[in-house]
This record gives sequence, structure tokens and C-alpha cells, in this order.
Amino acid sequence: ATERTLSIIKPDATRRNLTGKINAKFEEAGLRIIAQKRIHLSQAQAGKFYEVHAARPFYGELCEFMASEPVVVQVLEGEGAVAKNREVMGATNPAEAAEGTIRKEFALSIGENSVHGSDSAENAAIEIAFFFSGLELVG
Ligand code: CMP
Repeated sequence: ATERTLSIIKPDATRRNLTGKINAKFEEAGLRIIAQKRIHLSQAQAGKFYEVHAARPFYGELCEFMASEPVVVQVLEGEGAVAKNREVMGATNPAEAAEGTIRKEFALSIGENSVHGSDSAENAAIEIAFFFSGLELVG
């Protein structure tokens, strides 16, 4: 079925001017960018977005990093978009990411791993609503 998923191009990637190269990977995989904006999160906003990880030891570092420089938040649409996006991103840890994936090619470390993608259709709906209004989704 056609799905939507939330994607974030993280500060390590926007800083290195990789937005276009990363978007090309999504589009080559058949994912359509139906909403996109560049924003600079506050630490509080990053903390709210990643609330599910609040108990993790890396939470503070994660929120600080996500608020360090601008990010590009986007909604990707396509057949099985949640799983397809995760395939294109590659494993969270770039050392374990498959050849040709975004994280294999661009990520610097498990923290500075260039992209975020929703892990389920259910979370995708929550994460999309965190950043976008319905009017901003132009499918
Ligand atoms: P993301 O998909 O954005 O969801 C949570 C993020 O936490 C994850 O990608 C990683 O970038 C980050 N993360 C996971 N494990 C670690 C870790 N051990 N140290 C720092 N950051 C981590």
C-alpha cells in the first residue's frame, strides 16, 4: 500500500551540503518528497521529538546534536514507504550499513548518522504530525 513516513536530514549532513545527494537516493528508490522544510530545532523541541529515548544514556547528546545546526524535515510517500526508507538509510550504525545506503556513504558515526526515518507506520503518523499540518502534505 502507499504509505508516508517522516524523514530528517540531520545536522552532520546539512552542514556538509548533502541534502541534494540524500534526496536523490530517496527519489531513485521511488520515494516522493511530498513535504519538506529546513528548520533549526531548539534542544527542547529535539527532546520532545525523541521523548521515547529519554531514558537512554545517549539522550542528552542526541538532543544537543539535533539542535546544533539546521535539519531538513520531510515526508516521503510511496509503496511501503516506511520499510523502503529504512532500506535506503541503512543500519543505524554506519559500520553495519550495507553498501549503497545513505548511512554507509555519508554517516560519520552512530550518533552523527545523517538521517532519521520513522520505524513504523504508526510512529510515522505521529512524527509527521509533529512537524507538518495536513495542508503542507502535497501528495
Ligand atoms: P534515529 O533513527 O534518529 O533514532 C534515535 C537516534 O539515536 C539514532 O538514530 C542514533 O543516531 C542515535 N543513537 C543510537 N544509539 C546511539 C549511541 N550509542 N550513541 C549516540 N547516539 C545514538
